Amino acid sequence: MMKTVTLCAVALMASATAFAQNIQLPAPQKSGGKPLMEALSQRKSSREFDAKALSEQTISNLLWAAGGFNRNGMRTAPSANNKQEFEIYVALEKGLYLYNAKDNALELVKSGDLRSKTGKQSFVSVAPLNLVYVYDAAKMSDEKMAYADCGFISQNVYLYCASEGLATVVRGFVDRDDLAKVIGLKPGYAITLSQTVGYPKN
Ligand SMILES: Cc1cc2nc3c(=O)[nH]c(=O)nc-3n(C[C@H](O)[C@H](O)[C@H](O)COP(=O)(O)O)c2cc1C
Repeated sequence: MMKTVTLCAVALMASATAFAQNIQLPAPQKSGGKPLMEALSQRKSSREFDAKALSEQTISNLLWAAGGFNRNGMRTAPSANNKQEFEIYVALEKGLYLYNAKDNALELVKSGDLRSKTGKQSFVSVAPLNLVYVYDAAKMSDEKMAYADCGFISQNVYLYCASEGLATVVRGFVDRDDLAKVIGLKPGYAITLSQTVGYPKN
């Protein structure tokens, strides 16, 4: 009996350790998808999500669309004065990560399921992924410009989702102070919006 309990504890610790790791994403697929006019025709906000997880390939593609590099240090989304002030946090069931666009990796910030903290609507903890958009005010002190820049990132995500038949909604209904504490944001970093992504609920 004692041996079984010990083995279970070891297995649990091993699986927790397995979750608590950075994730090297596969290279983003930069071709294919629906033609732009079809994606625009299908772009919409959805608030019902299936719980099915997204593959690492899909997460890689999604994040590259959101804010990856597409040429010599430049991004898929524009930014005022090319400040590139945004960081994208990714809340998955197994943990909260920071997208490292240069290395195409997810850096573990906190293990555990923090999806419910990313917004005040119930679907945020059903959907497999929530993005949290955070800007560095030292790079962009003008909040209006930061919100404009965030809109481009968010629309890239909308269009990628429309192209792939995924469901998404950008959200301002977020407890920013609480979420900043949960993420452990340093002073000078501010949350603008969050965005949920997943498969549509049939
Ligand atoms: C800045 C911004 C904040 C938003 N915040 C929320 C939100 O907190 N919750 C939500 O369900 N939808 C939110 N939305 C989605 C809008 O409600 C949605 O875009 C609008 O109703 C138009 O619908 P459509 O996106 O399907 O065209 C937000 C949209 C924007 C642009």
